[in-house]
Amino acid sequence: MAPSGDAKLLFCIFFISCCCLTVTLAEVPVDCCLSVAKQQVLKHAIMDYRRQVAGQGCSLNATILVTRRQMQLCVPANEQWVEKIVEHVEKLREHCRKNKYKNPRCSKMMPRN
Ligand SMILES: *[C@@H]1O[C@H](CO)[C@@H](O)[C@H](O)[C@H]1NC(C)=O
Repeated sequence: MAPSGDAKLLFCIFFISCCCLTVTLAEVPVDCCLSVAKQQVLKHAIMDYRRQVAGQGCSLNATILVTRRQMQLCVPANEQWVEKIVEHVEKLREHCRKNKYKNPRCSKMMPRN
């Protein structure tokens, strides 16, 4: 009697955890840029960037610039001043990698994971 009850309970817990996990994952909001800044941004404030491609849950092509303070700025995907900033970030990242992140500026450039 008892073992079968335990098994049912375990199954139930297992099932509920799976459900919760799925729901949690599904409910993570997709972080989309809904509009982009027209205004230019100082490249020295930017430590990272991401690309947002329209059609992958978001309706807009955009570039997301991440500042030192982890603020995210939505800017146009293909404008020249944006590409300059992206290049700057790539160069900084390369420089940091070569210097094994010894420069204090590089502390925020450590690869995640
Ligand atoms: C977004 O960019 C892709 C190429 O990167 C292009 O094919 C697509 O038409 C663009 N979509 C919008 C909404 O601008």
